[in-house]
Amino acid sequence: MKYSLLPKTDLKISAIGLGTNAVGGHNLYENLSEEDGKNLVRAALDNGITFIDTADVYGKGRSEELVGEVLKEYPRGQYVIATKGGSDWRNGTRDNSPEYLRKAVGDSLERLQLDSIDLYYIHWPDDETPVKEAVEELSRLKSEGKIKAIGVSNFSLEQLKEANSEGEISAIQLQYHMLDRSIERDILPYCVENGITVVPYGPLAFGILGGKYDEDFLLEEGDWRKSVPLFQEGEFEKNLAIVDKLKGIAERLDTDVSKLALAWLLAQPGVDSVIPGGKKADQVLDNLRAVDLELDKELLREIDDILQEK
Ligand SMILES: NC(=O)c1ccc[n+]([C@@H]2O[C@H](COP(=O)([O-])OP(=O)(O)OC[C@H]3O[C@@H](n4cnc5c(N)ncnc54)[C@H](OP(=O)(O)O)[C@@H]3O)[C@@H](O)[C@H]2O)c1
Repeated sequence: MKYSLLPKTDLKISAIGLGTNAVGGHNLYENLSEEDGKNLVRAALDNGITFIDTADVYGKGRSEELVGEVLKEYPRGQYVIATKGGSDWRNGTRDNSPEYLRKAVGDSLERLQLDSIDLYYIHWPDDETPVKEAVEELSRLKSEGKIKAIGVSNFSLEQLKEANSEGEISAIQLQYHMLDRSIERDILPYCVENGITVVPYGPLAFGILGGKYDEDFLLEEGDWRKSVPLFQEGEFEKNLAIVDKLKGIAERLDTDVSKLALAWLLAQPGVDSVIPGGKKADQVLDNLRAVDLELDKELLREIDDILQEK
């Protein structure tokens, strides 16, 4: 495993992290048992992963509770726990007000059974609370030791700039993967210039870059991905065609598309860690191996040519 320091902290994050929205019954993953969910986190921590990503909304609080139960089995210094708040799943609203964020941090600490959260993200901007006020409150929580670093998620470049001028932003979490490179236009260069790490979410394009889907793949009723543009008719087929071409490169490298996709992200400037999700411990172990895949300039150019075809 490779490690780096989370910017503006002395916390060591692993290049491959773990996304845990499957743990605790997120809509897509209702059939994952709680024990299997906990075993995903154990598989990660037992095999060199230190960076665990959750959020208060995952499983409506249950993800944090289950992750917290597992974390108790490990020394505090062995992991870096990131969680997110500022969206209230009880009434489906976003709330970045200082009062709400303070309460949300307290609730997350309780569910995780910890004294401090290593990285706390505002999950989504609420477009009402001035970014300044939200970041100031997180800075206060940081000086009180309740959180160790501040992150934002799903922020525009303007919102990120504002946040970064009001407080010390360590990380931004955004959708970024081979099939959606929109952040490369503006946010990624800004982050590289300003020492903010980009934590890509959906690194496997929510399953498409797992390489298992074909044109007969149908999303079940209620699957949240039904509203994701990547899965819309026409777009989905284009994405499958790209995956097919990537399979050719993966085969030559004696690997598969999922590991190629993770290694490609890690090769991008500004990305230090990826947080793939999954439902099986085997997937966690498989994803770990992406860290050994080095992509040289020529390969990156070849991949780029394929991705440009979309
Ligand atoms: N900040 C935000 O707003 C936000 C939004 C979304 C996600 N996130 C975070 O990002 C994390 C990752 O995103 P995600 O879980 O939604 O999507 P993802 O990592 O792109 O994809 C996960 C899917 O990939 C498949 N997969 C995993 N490992 C695989 C492997 N080795 N080979 C083949 N397929 C594999 C699994 O499919 P099967 O289960 O079908 O096998 C799983 O459904 C989340 O867990 C969460 O922590 C944050």
